[in-house]
Amino acid sequence: MKYPKEYLDEIKTRLKVSAVVSRTVNLKKRGKEFIGLSPFKTEKTPSFTVNDDKEFYHCFATSEHGNIFDFIMKTQNLKFGEAVKFLANLAGMRPYTFSKQDEEREKQWKEYCSIYSQYVKFYHEEILKKEESSIAREYLKKRNLSKEEVEKFKIGYVKNKPSFYEKLKNQFSEKVLIESGLFYFDEKNKIFVERFRDRIIFPINNISGQPIALGGRTFQNKNYLAKYINSPETPFFKKGSNLYNLDLARKLSNKIDHVYLVEGYMDVIGLSKNGIENVVANLGTSLTDKQILVLNQFFDDIIICFDGDESGYKAALRAAENSIKELQPEKKISFLFLPEKEDPDSFVNRNGRNTFIKFTKENKVPIHKFIFNHYIKQTNDDPSSMAIFEKTLRTVANTIKDNFIKKYILEYFLEQISSLTPHSNFRKKKFYHKKEKSLKTTQKYFNESKSLSPVELKEFSLLYIVLNNLNVFHVNTHLIENIKFFTNENKLVLENVLQELKTKDNLKLDDLLIDKQLIDKIFKFASIKHILNNNQNDEQKVLELLEEIKRDLKNYELEFRIEELESKFSKDLSESTFNEIRELKKLQNIN
Ligand code: UTP
Ligand code: MN
Repeated sequence: MKYPKEYLDEIKTRLKVSAVVSRTVNLKKRGKEFIGLSPFKTEKTPSFTVNDDKEFYHCFATSEHGNIFDFIMKTQNLKFGEAVKFLANLAGMRPYTFSKQDEEREKQWKEYCSIYSQYVKFYHEEILKKEESSIAREYLKKRNLSKEEVEKFKIGYVKNKPSFYEKLKNQFSEKVLIESGLFYFDEKNKIFVERFRDRIIFPINNISGQPIALGGRTFQNKNYLAKYINSPETPFFKKGSNLYNLDLARKLSNKIDHVYLVEGYMDVIGLSKNGIENVVANLGTSLTDKQILVLNQFFDDIIICFDGDESGYKAALRAAENSIKELQPEKKISFLFLPEKEDPDSFVNRNGRNTFIKFTKENKVPIHKFIFNHYIKQTNDDPSSMAIFEKTLRTVANTIKDNFIKKYILEYFLEQISSLTPHSNFRKKKFYHKKEKSLKTTQKYFNESKSLSPVELKEFSLLYIVLNNLNVFHVNTHLIENIKFFTNENKLVLENVLQELKTKDNLKLDDLLIDKQLIDKIFKFASIKHILNNNQNDEQKVLELLEEIKRDLKNYELEFRIEELESKFSKDLSESTFNEIRELKKLQNIN
């Protein structure tokens, strides 16, 4: 059975050839292509080329040639089906399962594409030549659009009394035509009506450039008509999964790492006309996680630029709170706010490309700063307002899926808050005052190391033991006194627990005033949990494990002290320092 073209195309558009090939072949960029040593032959000078635009690789040494599926089949010795599965997985797609319904769906998809292709072509040709379309052409001219943009975006005009339904009726069933969303049945007059009649139409293409829906603008000033209407959702068009102009914009992703995300069709066209073609629009709905993920497949940096009015601002805030969840290390999302009453289209037409780019550079705000700035504006300095403020920001940070991003954004928020309230927030400030590095550098650092320090992990293990055995330590507080912790956060937790244990009977985990985030982190990363969970209720074992960890921590303490002294010694070369080091090393061996 054949895979639907739709499915294979989706894989191809999500995975650049160079990305697939460079998993196994070292590629270097040369002009529009990449070159490398052939995987099919041992060679010293590279004769293997990859072309992302044309979606193929070619080996001049062996004449091997093909697309990503061929490459995987040949280099991994897989059958076609296996290569598809492998690549689909790599592209973050579900494996395809075949069934009778799929065959049916494939047939429907072909019909759907054919209807849309014909429809778009027909009305595009009409607007270019037909006399009746001159009012539409006049309107577009007034809006600064030339023939070039009309052609590039395949803009069309469906006249007031269109007749294309009659033509399509000969090829497709009524049911299929209705399901396309282009027509509906008018019960009263018992006729089929074109949804987009008397509108300028903007084809919305899928990622491979196939039109799958339309946006339509009226240019009549009748306020009972919606300015824009879109195709309804169909089995093949889901608003939240598509972006206007992604098919063209994605082709630039080899050269440009950022993309503008705007609200409207006209914004896309206006920017594109002014030479900013890395732009997509989200079709008048609120931005979805899926749209962010798709954009991130191609671009590292998303610049969200909505209209400079209240609804644009509100949409931007919603977009920020939605998309921060998906924020990934190495990816950026920022916001650009235009002057009052401008939208990207009007702004770029008035000021031109260079000013727009300069304005972007000078004014874009990273997503976490935008969110912070928004909520701070709603806050005054009474405690209850501050509490709500902090709570809101914590909630936002908590929705972030990537743990490292979550950590640093939360830290950013909390640090900003403590710098706002230097006196009242002393404790909190201490709690989080750990990093001096900027969000960006630490984020990068963490990305590289992808781990917490060994000491921190040991401390988590110790806290894990204590938090899970509060009843045991209630009568044994001495066992957890005088333990040296290195991480301030953890130290404060231990101190807090100790104090509570001494003052309260029957203490429960929930009674402790510990940051929920931190508890989660402890429970997640404490490596001891696997051992401990196998020895639940075995007090003897719990205490043994505790002693073991205490010993390890003691060793860390010695190690750090030794390091400190060694660097001191390297400067002062004093005998006393040397002796101290020797003593400590002995202790280390005993431990
Ligand atoms: P705008 O009202 O900002 O439109 O809506 P625009 O793109 O600037 O268009 P012009 O310049 O007035 O022609 C932004 C987007 O919101 C959706 C459309 O996708 C539009 O492009 N929208 C707007 C609707 O779906 N329906 C509407 O009635 C209005
Ligand atoms: Mn607008």
